[in-house]
Amino acid sequence: MSKSYNIAVIPGDGTGPEVIREGIKVLNAAASRYGFKLSFDEFDFGGERYLKTGEVLPDSAPDDLRQYDTILLGAIGHPDVRPGILEKGILLRLRFELDQYINLRPVKLYPGVDTPLKNKGPEHIDYVVVRENSGDVYTGSGGVTMKGTPHEVAIQNMVYNRMQVDRCLRYAFEYTRKRDRRKTLALCGKTNVLTYVFDLWERAFHEMGASDYPDITREYYHVDATCMWMVKNPEWFDVIVTTNMFGDIITDLGAITQGGMGIAAGGNINPRGVSMFEPIGGSAPKYTGMNIINPLAAIACGAMMLEHLGEAEAATAVEKAIMDVTANKLKDLGAGKMGYSTTEVGDLVAERI
Ligand code: IPM
Ligand code: MN
Repeated sequence: MSKSYNIAVIPGDGTGPEVIREGIKVLNAAASRYGFKLSFDEFDFGGERYLKTGEVLPDSAPDDLRQYDTILLGAIGHPDVRPGILEKGILLRLRFELDQYINLRPVKLYPGVDTPLKNKGPEHIDYVVVRENSGDVYTGSGGVTMKGTPHEVAIQNMVYNRMQVDRCLRYAFEYTRKRDRRKTLALCGKTNVLTYVFDLWERAFHEMGASDYPDITREYYHVDATCMWMVKNPEWFDVIVTTNMFGDIITDLGAITQGGMGIAAGGNINPRGVSMFEPIGGSAPKYTGMNIINPLAAIACGAMMLEHLGEAEAATAVEKAIMDVTANKLKDLGAGKMGYSTTEVGDLVAERI
């Protein structure tokens, strides 16, 4: 009997639905080629639904989504909705309630793709950022007093407990071992200023590494230096593990070095629960409905999702197909500059599976 997987799809806002359509097209091609079944159920969460109903996310959503094997998300963000409402109310709420405590963001330059880094090619840019996804300034801890007066105080706390740090480090060490490249895990922090939080991270990092992962080389970089080396010597990196906010920032830098938002994929992972795969880029409202947005990031999310489901062969096939298309077909990764429409790019990848 062939395996079958139930996937919840949240196309979301802007160009989300267009790129998700191509992601599903390629996933279906992989399923029929590699002999497993996929079924997709759509959820209409996003800006349009909020504007119509006034509800950001129904309270039943996390439990409904828990019934699925994985979630595929397009993009969240609507030009007519004040920034923060949908991001916090949908994306962050789902990450937190489904306890997707890892944000896995590969930084990989595919063949034929332009990078702004001088003299760097695919052999130099191929590493993975393990971004902690449940703590830090994202928890909403803090507050404001004396608002509107000259004495106004605003506090936003960087919050981590040992459990969050340990489970993230555990994932990162295991991932580095499984990836089996340079077997090097770099902790990215700021021990010289954030002396409480990164003292915790650094101690936990070395304790766990020394006792359980003697085969993995440990490195430490301050976050500011990490940015510098990601530009100057990206080939130094194998796996980087970091906190939520630093991970947010350095993965945008990473994304632009791999060709930008059209290609950068990520996964919000709960290793024991339901994970959610999403392109790092946003909803790109100005390109909505024009069939010119690049769907490769969503398609690459599909590959990450297959890997996560245990369909490694199919995942590799999708990634290879993407690489063949970037190497031999696309003129550019930018919206409207690919030399093909959104749907044609989906077809090009699907027919190579
Ligand atoms: C990301 C985004 C989100 C984040 C925003 C939209 C809340 O920037 O996924 O990187 O900060 O995590
Ligand atoms: Mn971000």
